[in-house]
Amino acid sequence: MPALVRCEHDVALPAASPEAPYRFSATRTDEYPVHVCRDESTAVGHLLREVGARRVALITDDRVAAIHARGLAARLRAGGLDVTMTAFPSGEASKSLRTACDMLDWLAGTTIARRDVVLAVGGGVVIDTVGWVASAYMRGVPYVNVPTTLLAHVDAALGGKVAVDHTSAKNLIGAFYQPKAVVSNVGYLGSLDRRQLAAGLAEAVKKGVIGSPDLFRLIEHEAERVLSRDLDVLETLVQAASRVKCELLSGDPYEEDLRRPLNFGHTVGHAVETVTGYGPVLHGEAVAFGMVVAAAIAADRGLIDLDLRDRLVQLLRRIGLPVSLAEFGVWVDVDDVVAALGQIRKIRDGQIRFVLPLALGQTAIVDDVTDAEVRVVMERLAVERRAEPEPAR
Ligand SMILES: NC(=O)c1ccc[n+]([C@@H]2O[C@H](COP(=O)([O-])OP(=O)(O)OC[C@H]3O[C@@H](n4cnc5c(N)ncnc54)[C@H](O)[C@@H]3O)[C@@H](O)[C@H]2O)c1
Ligand SMILES: [Zn+2]
Repeated sequence: MPALVRCEHDVALPAASPEAPYRFSATRTDEYPVHVCRDESTAVGHLLREVGARRVALITDDRVAAIHARGLAARLRAGGLDVTMTAFPSGEASKSLRTACDMLDWLAGTTIARRDVVLAVGGGVVIDTVGWVASAYMRGVPYVNVPTTLLAHVDAALGGKVAVDHTSAKNLIGAFYQPKAVVSNVGYLGSLDRRQLAAGLAEAVKKGVIGSPDLFRLIEHEAERVLSRDLDVLETLVQAASRVKCELLSGDPYEEDLRRPLNFGHTVGHAVETVTGYGPVLHGEAVAFGMVVAAAIAADRGLIDLDLRDRLVQLLRRIGLPVSLAEFGVWVDVDDVVAALGQIRKIRDGQIRFVLPLALGQTAIVDDVTDAEVRVVMERLAVERRAEPEPAR
């Protein structure tokens, strides 16, 4: 006997009123767990519980497929899941509409349905691209993030900002679409090279400066052990940084207020990435330099606690991140960076927002920083850097 589903409605017709339009409202609460662990068996346990009896479409990039994702898919299958898997080429160039369309075509050829789960296994490129594909496929299928770079563990996997790049701008085509869960296994960071680790650590330093003195002090104490991939420290760091990011996002998860402390280091950082063509300079490296510039502007304005400025610069140098334009490994011209800032200024009605650090956990957001101020600071940092001895590593 089929179950009877009774539907009853009695919608009263509103009185015609040209002044007051009828209002529709739709609200949804998105809440998801962030599991941090240090080995794949624990990660598989979390994933099996989060996915339940649903089918899984695992999407990754070709590098991560070879190192981790094929093994993970095998363990999920051994745990009873029906897993189908594909990979696209690694690198920022894959974060494109073309890749997204390829993934949509691939999904359309699978048996994945609306309540099944897409698993994004990889760095920020995979997570941003797959999240956006998941938001579009069948008007939104659930997805779970399994980050494999430090940047993705402490940043990209959290917050549901999903996007692909357009030839005219990065992250131009995207949405806010929250994951169903995040499973962060820091054990995957064992295969990540030191440069990528350092770049990911820059985003964690940023969160410490803007929102958590404890996190900043943790990184000051443990930077070397993070870079040597000590699992205890990585697990503590990712736990702390994820929590700080979630706390900072919770007041404004959909970025209605554009004055966001999380953009600390990103104004000049984006300009550096733009002029170098999003490739030779890693995002975290550009952000590190951007934080140094913002701290120097704050110092010139007498706003920052100078001890914090010095601690920040010393920490970034110890990590091996660039604190002057000369340290990028590719030529970056002061004039080009200032011109790129000018472009942003044009798009934003003449204003650029800078997040200036004042003290640990305190920032000010200003929109009156001039090109001349930025230029003076960048030139002075280059001169100071040339005059200093190499730091001991
Ligand atoms: N959505 C957000 O909130 C957010 C935040 C920050 C950055 N991002 C985006 O993240 C992207 C950058 O992410 P990324 O730095 O993780 O780069 P990425 O995804 O390109 O990964 C870097 C490289 O490391 C490889 N890799 C990944 N995991 C590995 C592992 N465990 N071992 C060895 N190699 C591994 C990848 O194949 C790739 O070649 C940018 O597109 C940026 O816009 C998004
Ligand atoms: Zn960033």
